[in-house]
Amino acid sequence: MLDDAAAAQTRHSRAHVPGAMPGAGWLILVVLATGIAVWSMRYGLPVVPQPNLSNFVTRRPALTIHALSASVALLVGPWQFLPGLRARRIGLHRALGRTYAVAILVAWLSSIPIGLHAETGMVASAGFLVLGAAWIAATGVAVERALRHDIAAHRRWMVRSYALTAAAITLRIYLGMAIALGIPMTLSYPAIAWLCWIPNLLAAEWWVRRAAPAS
Ligand code: HEM
Repeated sequence: MLDDAAAAQTRHSRAHVPGAMPGAGWLILVVLATGIAVWSMRYGLPVVPQPNLSNFVTRRPALTIHALSASVALLVGPWQFLPGLRARRIGLHRALGRTYAVAILVAWLSSIPIGLHAETGMVASAGFLVLGAAWIAATGVAVERALRHDIAAHRRWMVRSYALTAAAITLRIYLGMAIALGIPMTLSYPAIAWLCWIPNLLAAEWWVRRAAPAS
């Protein structure tokens, strides 16, 4: 009887903790995140290949700071979900976590001036600005939960945070698809500024709510 109650309690406390990331999914995430982050870091070069944005001409410092800091967050994030790294190298996990959070703070602040002047106008601007607000909020709550040693909640909020960081991946996939389908940028870009993150956030919500063993 007591065993049943203990088992039920364990199931309950595990129900809202995101589980370990499956190997293949994690590998695909690392490859995409690393590729996009490394390519995005070209904004740090003196001569930038394929800038393609009016923000590059009018707000280059903000765009450069954004591209470099956001790339650090994109690169670092997937490693934080490795249960082995968390368990064996907690000092490294904390150092990477601080790097991730500071990178997002800088990337979010620098995204505001460029977000106000996104390509194609107000709808796209609003999509990026709301994404930025959700990004810093989710990351801030995740950090606050870690400081309060509420590790289960910290993990849930970090899953949400990285799902938003991964908007950098989905945005580029959808843009490529829109170009391949011949959809004009004036139509595709405003939609993608929202679509690049809302489904990610819904997927993250599903991920953290499904019953999964704690890692
Ligand atoms: C998740 C929150 C993010 C927000 C709110 C955001 C916002 C923006 C905005 C507003 C622009 C300018 C778009 C335009 O001028 O039309 C931009 C461009 C850019 N962002 Fe982000 N961004 C985010 C995440 C990231 C991440 C994680 C990366 C990491 C690679 C990244 C890398 C870039 C790059 C490289 C550009 C320049 C455009 C390009 O070459 O693709 N951003 N971002």
